[in-house]
Amino acid sequence: MAPLRIVYISISGNTEAFVEKVAELAAKEHAKNADKPLVEAFEYSEQFDERIFDQPYFVFVPTYLDGGDGIHTGYHEILTIDLRDELDAANTANMLGIVGSGNRNFNAQFGLTAKHYARRFNTPLIGLYELRGNDEEAALIYGRMQKYAHNYQLSGKKLALA
Ligand SMILES: Cc1cc2nc3c(=O)[nH]c(=O)nc-3n(C[C@H](O)[C@H](O)[C@H](O)COP(=O)(O)O)c2cc1C
Repeated sequence: MAPLRIVYISISGNTEAFVEKVAELAAKEHAKNADKPLVEAFEYSEQFDERIFDQPYFVFVPTYLDGGDGIHTGYHEILTIDLRDELDAANTANMLGIVGSGNRNFNAQFGLTAKHYARRFNTPLIGLYELRGNDEEAALIYGRMQKYAHNYQLSGKKLALA
């Protein structure tokens, strides 16, 4: 299987740490069994090369909302807006899944940006993890990404939001 492509943004380094955890796991699995895909990760920046979206990709996004409770208020996204703008202009037919993160202290707002993106880009939310994530979450997300990539390979079409 081709490498699993991840596009991510990380303001304080947690998402980056989790992406590295998934990539390390993938490298280990690939070393044992060459059929297991590696991970290639691209951090969003102002100099982002949009040709990255020409191949199937997954988006990893943390949640930064401006106050509120996520139910009545608190939908105002901050700090990740540039990535959202980039995705608005991107080829989302290749966006196979979204992985979100946040902090459970935010209650109903936990991981809300990924949920918003799932709707906005009609793309399945394939998982949420907290802060830097753990090995179990990394294994779960790696497994789900393989499933979605495999389905895309077979059908030539991404799955829409369930
Ligand atoms: C100003 C601010 C607002 C935040 N808002 C939310 C939120 O609404 N929901 C949530 O789940 N986490 C929220 N978080 C927690 C971050 O999503 C969490 O720390 C995440 O791991 C940061 O990822 P990063 O280090 O890759 O930027 C917020 C953090 C900050 C600093």
